[in-house]
Amino acid sequence: MSKRIYIFDTTLRDGEQSPGASLNVQEKLEIARQLERLGVDVIEAGFPISSPGDFHAVQEICKVVKNATVCGLTRAVNKDIECAAEALKGAVRPRIHTGLGVSDSHLQHKLKLSREAAMEKGVNAVKHARKFVDDVEYFLEDSGRADVDYLCQVIEAVINAGATVINIPDTTGFATPEEYGARIARVMNRVPNIDRAIVSVHCHDDLGMAVANSLAGVMNGARQIECTVNGIGERAGNTSLEEVVMAMKVRNDYYQTETGINTQEIYNTSRMVSNLTGILVQPNKAIIGANAFAHSSGIHQDGVLKERTTYEIIDPKDVGIPESKILLSARSGRHALQHRLGELGFHINENHLDKIYERFLQVADTKKLVYDEDLEAIVADETSVVPVAYELIRVQVSCGDNITPTALVTLKNRKGETHTDSAHGTGPIDAIYRAINRVVKVENTLTEFSIQAITKGVDALAEVTIRIQQGEDIYTGRASDTDVCVASARAYLHALNRLMDRATRASNNVKLEHI
Ligand code: KIV
Ligand code: ZN
Repeated sequence: MSKRIYIFDTTLRDGEQSPGASLNVQEKLEIARQLERLGVDVIEAGFPISSPGDFHAVQEICKVVKNATVCGLTRAVNKDIECAAEALKGAVRPRIHTGLGVSDSHLQHKLKLSREAAMEKGVNAVKHARKFVDDVEYFLEDSGRADVDYLCQVIEAVINAGATVINIPDTTGFATPEEYGARIARVMNRVPNIDRAIVSVHCHDDLGMAVANSLAGVMNGARQIECTVNGIGERAGNTSLEEVVMAMKVRNDYYQTETGINTQEIYNTSRMVSNLTGILVQPNKAIIGANAFAHSSGIHQDGVLKERTTYEIIDPKDVGIPESKILLSARSGRHALQHRLGELGFHINENHLDKIYERFLQVADTKKLVYDEDLEAIVADETSVVPVAYELIRVQVSCGDNITPTALVTLKNRKGETHTDSAHGTGPIDAIYRAINRVVKVENTLTEFSIQAITKGVDALAEVTIRIQQGEDIYTGRASDTDVCVASARAYLHALNRLMDRATRASNNVKLEHI
């Protein structure tokens, strides 16, 4: 019989710790709703004490999530726990996730606590959290490098104090699958009260072994996997949800496990997270990369045409990858568009549909044929929930050899006032960004700029993704258009709007490094 494994999604907490991935409340809500459709068991919605924005996001997520447990992270500190309890009040199934370091490195250098003092602090945190909720998860940070005897002692003590889930993170991504699996096995065999808690694995991908380590944990008794969509997260990221779930599904013969994930929602969820965070998915990424089901060698193509399973172990339909069809043109009506969007798994409200249809007609006029990938890009642009401080009305560029690139832009602000300005630059994009800067006047540095053709052909939509930095904060922007200059201008404004939105929100950020 298959063992049920719980999927704990931390895209909105650990995933959001990826540089530049910061999301606003509306974006987090959209992702939370999609995670419910995907069928995750637990949504780690944020770290409520870290900022008023995070607190509010957790509160709002609790209102919309009906089936999954909603979890809030805290340090082993009373005021964090009280803040998380307050944020989680509206949840159908609330969970507080508290904890502390266990490795000597963390105890000596970061926490400056003895083993005994740290254990007492952890026990007190669990007891305090249990005053507010019945479901308390305890994380033992840097378990991957901790002394196993001490690890087991702390686990026994926090279970006695009321912890219901025990998270054994390989925080630094240091462990190998054999070592990590053996560590979980030691815990299962040596902690006398371990049957009173669910053991959870939380692995980071610094050595590219997060998925393998999580599965090794499951093979040795763990019942919950903590993971993120597209594997985003601190540094090299976390265990990728789609990889670990599909590994267990495709190799059920080996793992003998099952999850509650509706795998046909994987592709949509991946695209949504990539669009909203601006973190692109590498083409060769397992399960959801653009090349994951592309066969380029003649021998492979021949085999797949004769029988798909000769070279494909997963049916793309099982992860919700739509067959790419050239279906729509300028003659397609609003209804046809709405129908195709539904088939692609988009849940679009009437308001957004008007904007999407208008944009679709513009693209169809230029491109003639609109592919599913084009529709995805249009939906991402037109459903953006970043408050607009400045909107692009017009951009014109002159460039080429033997002339100085010059751009003219007209922007409209929130009050409806338009501003036009121009600038020279080293190239057309530089000129556009300088002209925009002359209007918006927000200091920042462009740190990344990437451009991708969404489909084949010279008339393809160009998708521009950028990152800008102000102080320590990084903001992403993305936009698409058949004209790369227009896409670049819109992507820059998208990032600037995000920056201005963030700046207007009060913040008393507590950084996770201080856990
Ligand atoms: O990696 C880690 O140890 C964490 C904890 C805060 C759970 O993210
Ligand atoms: Zn982590």
